[in-house]
Amino acid sequence: MKIAIGCDHAGINLKPVLVKYLEENGYEYTDFGTYGKESCNYAEYGAKVAEAVASGEYDRGILICGTGIGMSIVANKVPGAHCHDSFSARATRMHNDANVIAFGERCIGAGIMLDIVDACLTTDFEGGRHLARIAKITEVEQKYSK
Ligand code: RB5
Repeated sequence: MKIAIGCDHAGINLKPVLVKYLEENGYEYTDFGTYGKESCNYAEYGAKVAEAVASGEYDRGILICGTGIGMSIVANKVPGAHCHDSFSARATRMHNDANVIAFGERCIGAGIMLDIVDACLTTDFEGGRHLARIAKITEVEQKYSK
């Protein structure tokens, strides 16, 4: 499984924790930045990760900003990238087939983040009745993207 990760300046302290987890658990990953504490635009890095996942080159994306909200909003603008924020990680894999997750470093700590990352990377989509519901979401997305 290939993972794309990214953060802004407000997520820079949690990213090394995430990197350590991915390396210790044998995941292949690419860090799309940002790489320093200088103030930057979360949308730039959220888009890079979401586009990498939507292209099919990466299986999952993990984003960290201050709240997880800005990253979540931008990732959901990329067709094919479905982003959910933290707490419902297992359900969003099973029901929504979400492929990108966003965290807020100002909202949660390292332990909770890693629990959620683990749920996200080890839970499969259930398919079945959820396929029609996701198809409806895609229909709404297409209606408003013309
Ligand atoms: C940066 O201050 C902050 O706005 C950003 O990390 C994110 O939380 C936006 O939603």
